[in-house]
Amino acid sequence: MLPTCPYCRAEIESDQLPPRCPSCHAVLIKAAETQKADAPTVKKAELIHWEDRFSLGITEIDTQHQRLCELINDLFRAVRFNAYGENFIPRAILQLREYTIFHFNAEEKIFKQSSYPKSDEHQKKHDEFIHWVQTLENNYKESVIEIKPLLKFLVEWFIDHTQRIDREYVPYLNKK
Ligand SMILES: [Fe+2]
Ligand SMILES: [Fe+2]
Repeated sequence: MLPTCPYCRAEIESDQLPPRCPSCHAVLIKAAETQKADAPTVKKAELIHWEDRFSLGITEIDTQHQRLCELINDLFRAVRFNAYGENFIPRAILQLREYTIFHFNAEEKIFKQSSYPKSDEHQKKHDEFIHWVQTLENNYKESVIEIKPLLKFLVEWFIDHTQRIDREYVPYLNKK
């Protein structure tokens, strides 16, 4: 049986899905990956679950890290379930970029008021990540990209950055 476009139901004559439906031009890679689920299931679905052990013990930062977690989950739900409509994917990427910039600025402001010796190095890591999200945003706009492996990267980045890199500044803030 030929695969059909989930939007216009046109049959697609290729065993490898083309990036866009030849009939209605809807993006197919993400559409083909989406799963059907009822609203409560979608709402509950998480790629990364915030745990108390993630806390750095700094309320402002913990709240921001939790929000980052939520934004990654929003993007995941948009990709996995096509939740909130397809336009939500670029919106979720944009929100993630904007909020990450806000969070990084808050951290960098704290560094400046502390004796944390690795602030330049840390800031470089922030810049690299912003560059990564920016590239994702541009690639998504220009063409179809396989977003699933990027979600995996996001989770790994979140754990590594908040639990390894960010933890390094905590003793300097407490000592201040
Ligand atoms: Fe952080
Ligand atoms: Fe950081």
